[in-house]
Amino acid sequence: MNWPVDVTIKEVGPRDGLQNEKTFISTEDKITWINQLSESGLKNIEITSFVNPKWIPALSDAVAVATGITKVPGVTYTALVPNLQGLERALQVNIDEVALFMSASETHNLKNINKSIDQTLPVLKDLARESLLAGKSTRGYVSTVFGCPYEGQVDIEPVIKVSESLFEMGVSELSLGDTIGVANPKQVQEVLEVLLKRFPADKLAMHFHDTRGTALANILVSLEMGITTFDSSLGGLGGCPYAPGAAGNVATDDLLYMLHGMGIHTGVDEQKMLRASQFIQEKIGRVLPSKSFQAASSQLGRTIGKTV
Ligand code: HMG
Ligand code: MG
Repeated sequence: MNWPVDVTIKEVGPRDGLQNEKTFISTEDKITWINQLSESGLKNIEITSFVNPKWIPALSDAVAVATGITKVPGVTYTALVPNLQGLERALQVNIDEVALFMSASETHNLKNINKSIDQTLPVLKDLARESLLAGKSTRGYVSTVFGCPYEGQVDIEPVIKVSESLFEMGVSELSLGDTIGVANPKQVQEVLEVLLKRFPADKLAMHFHDTRGTALANILVSLEMGITTFDSSLGGLGGCPYAPGAAGNVATDDLLYMLHGMGIHTGVDEQKMLRASQFIQEKIGRVLPSKSFQAASSQLGRTIGKTV
């Protein structure tokens, strides 16, 4: 098999992982958790979002979190930003990287950011231009690439159109989202075969939610097709409140276990991540979905009942 030697993991737990949590994690705990993640060897952490706090109350403390963390040199701190109003706050806290986002399906785009795809493009164009002028790197997300919670199947044409538009705006990398975790390996292969004819593999990242347990299989196929950047969330937290039925992202713990077992290098310390998973599990007060984290916890004699 043609597996890469190195893989980059982009930790989205503090943003995607927490945005849908019913329990409000205190600002202090978010900061402690992000600081733990910063010490783990991760090179990219998506720490929060500068969206309308009425839409995502769980991350309403974005400014306090972004200013409270201890930044580690060499780590890129990213935030999700929907428009110029969000960028203003992101620049105030000197975020390193701005992540733009939209969907390939009209209905999810509308439910998530209150605009049609055509209405969103000029908003993101302005946002990308101003981010780049401010010297920030920009990352793009395309959601619902493999299926939409409202429309079902999503054709490849809108995925190509939205991806091309985001690259034209100047994003340095595009993350392809399986927002509701419906993709299977064959579909991933088919979608990537089309996209890799247009965009280089090193400009694409995969963002799998693990609703149906197919995320690691989808990552394996992506690896075999030359993708080397994956978004994941510690413990398997995550979900989008505007994508009903979506479970968490693929768990960073499970991804690390698989990649390291295959001899693929990530630079991330599994033991440090284990401690960070334990910390956030205690704060959230329920058992985290990550299988390898639960297995490691039992091996350490820390039964789930004791930690939550
Ligand atoms: P809108 O209501 O259309 O915005 O929301 P508007 O421009 O008409 O303004 C209305 C109000 O929102 C005004 O306040 C604005 O000030 C305020 P009011 O005068 O009513 O008091 N507002 C803002 N406030 C703070 N920060 C801002 C901001 N912008 C406007 N940036 C908007 C449009 C995009 C803001 C809204 O729909 C929103 O915040 N949506 C966020 C949804 C979200 O965060 N979803 C989850 C993240 S996406 C995801 O999880 C998928 C991903 O993980 C990939 C995958 O899994 O596929 C990335
Ligand atoms: Mg997501």
